[in-house]
Amino acid sequence: MSESDNFKLVEKKSKVKNIFDSISGRYDLLNHLLSFGIDIYWRRKALKLSGINKNSFLLDVACGTGDVAIEAKKFGVEKIVGADFSHNMLRLFHKKSNWIIGNNVQMVAEQMPFKDNSFTNITVAFGVRNFYNIQEGFNSFYRVLKAQGKATIVEFQMPKNKFFAALYKFYFKKILPIIGGIISGNKSAYNYLPNSVEEFDEKVNLEILLRNSGFKRIDIYQLSFGTVQVVIAEK
Ligand SMILES: C[S@@+](CC[C@H](N)C(=O)[O-])C[C@H]1O[C@@H](n2cnc3c(N)ncnc32)[C@H](O)[C@@H]1O
Repeated sequence: MSESDNFKLVEKKSKVKNIFDSISGRYDLLNHLLSFGIDIYWRRKALKLSGINKNSFLLDVACGTGDVAIEAKKFGVEKIVGADFSHNMLRLFHKKSNWIIGNNVQMVAEQMPFKDNSFTNITVAFGVRNFYNIQEGFNSFYRVLKAQGKATIVEFQMPKNKFFAALYKFYFKKILPIIGGIISGNKSAYNYLPNSVEEFDEKVNLEILLRNSGFKRIDIYQLSFGTVQVVIAEK
């Protein structure tokens, strides 16, 4: 990797970390407001598709304030570890759910401090797009999953239908940054959101990256008119 590529990765890592540390206090409110509450359904549906149950050992990567892990608990999952590199997001997760204390790890997804073949399931909701090196992230997912373990990725994407895409773009690029900026006090963070989704949509093919990391079976589901994808990869 060239020095300038390396510099870009380091730059992205600190930019993203600063964004989430700074908006953490308003993150949940804005998530529910800007998605009209549908984000709750996206996480629940992804967990259902992943087939998670009381025997699962779940690592929720980029767990943020913990909404996936909290939902997973309702599916009967008892063993849950939450992982994120933002201290402020993890602190809010602790406040929301005292059962996670001691089971939360501050770390980067690209270099996870867990033993090989540890977890039956990994979830990552709206996190992969923010990784500074997605391939490295998937390599570590593969390493820490047990055989037949599943990585479930929930991520935004731009809808394919042209008419709907135009409406969606207007909302996502014009309205959402204004509301997000006013409520969070950080306008650039809510400009980053639509820009990162667009860039991710144009440049990243999750299936190829997952296969590069060694995942064999990959299922892809579309939710809410193709604005959200759920990708499930089995080791
Ligand atoms: C959009 S939030 C999603 C939080 C949560 N999963 C949810 O569904 O609401 C993205 C999270 O990814 C975390 N994150 C981004 N890049 C990361 C990385 N490379 N390693 C660990 N966490 C990361 C951020 O700190 C943030 O909490």
